[in-house]
Amino acid sequence: MPSSTANGDNGTVRNASITKIPTSCPSCPTPLKYSGSLDHLPFFEVTPIIGREYPTVKVTDILNAPNAEEQIRDFAVIISERGVVFFRDQDDLNVPDQKRFCDLVGKLSGRPEENGLHVHPIYRDPGNLTMPDGSTDENIYVINSEAQKKIYKTMARKGMDEPKDLSREWHSDSTFETLPSDFSFLKMEETPLHGGDTLWCSGYEIYDRMSPSFRSYLETLTATCAQPVFKSAATAGGYEVMSPRGSPLNVGDEFAPSHPVVRTNRVTGWKAVFAGVGLHVTKINGVYNYEDQMMREYVMRLITRNHDCIARMKWTKNAAAIWNNSCVWHAATPDTHLVDGNRTGVRASSIGEVPYLDPNSKSRREALGIPLI
Ligand SMILES: [Fe+2]
Repeated sequence: MPSSTANGDNGTVRNASITKIPTSCPSCPTPLKYSGSLDHLPFFEVTPIIGREYPTVKVTDILNAPNAEEQIRDFAVIISERGVVFFRDQDDLNVPDQKRFCDLVGKLSGRPEENGLHVHPIYRDPGNLTMPDGSTDENIYVINSEAQKKIYKTMARKGMDEPKDLSREWHSDSTFETLPSDFSFLKMEETPLHGGDTLWCSGYEIYDRMSPSFRSYLETLTATCAQPVFKSAATAGGYEVMSPRGSPLNVGDEFAPSHPVVRTNRVTGWKAVFAGVGLHVTKINGVYNYEDQMMREYVMRLITRNHDCIARMKWTKNAAAIWNNSCVWHAATPDTHLVDGNRTGVRASSIGEVPYLDPNSKSRREALGIPLI
């Protein structure tokens, strides 16, 4: 059911650059409610604001439970409220079950019916690394520092002689797609004794830390999320990019959608800053270059100067994390070259809805009645 259109016409919020922001999610018209089916599972919150860890839960037990659908739907709610959920010791979780869990979390929480798991655009690249058993799967992205170097070898890298600026690591998965990922599920198969931590930052909380007038302005904006590296990599490699990629709408090789800077999370109904910052965000539309730079630097400043908005995963062998890309950004820590040992993982991602902003949705703190101070 479309929401009211206080800021625009024809069911959209008006944007200065003519791009219109959808105001509802047709496949999930109202937020989901937690049913209590996970209350028997021990957990702890990673921080007061973001993250939860279930230290003893086996994902395979959830998949095989008599009320699996109810539990997985509740996990979707918890992941979306907390931003990211950690599991440990998933030694019995194979790739098909990892894919099934990720797919069901998206499917049972109201993603468009026709969607599925994301297919990486350059899956055909002969240089891609395989999974530890030597196989490949079009729905699995292999995490490996060597692979990362190959994938981004055609990307322009500026300032390589400058000190590191790790702010460039922050991103939301598949923002370069018309329909980006809702849930991503990463299992770390191997990890060094230390190094390679992943961080997640709450887009809900970054929104809550802005002044009401600035929030209102950002809500009128969209950003272009162009990622030309895939097309250039395919051209250089002499192969076609994969298409479609988890949705009939994720096709072609342009990779330059516009997304709302602030979006509503379909599961919680809460607002989060989304395309205001990140690796795949190219430009905020309809403003001058300096204004674009100023706004994105402000969002990044909030991320880097508010570490209480961040959950950090110290990976252990067979640990796993599942997060909701519409309300968190994440960043890997590229420090594993300093230690012995490999860092390899496998990730599946579900494809969600067209990002939207329901003008009647609330912030997380507004919805939960939590004062800012
Ligand atoms: Fe990622």
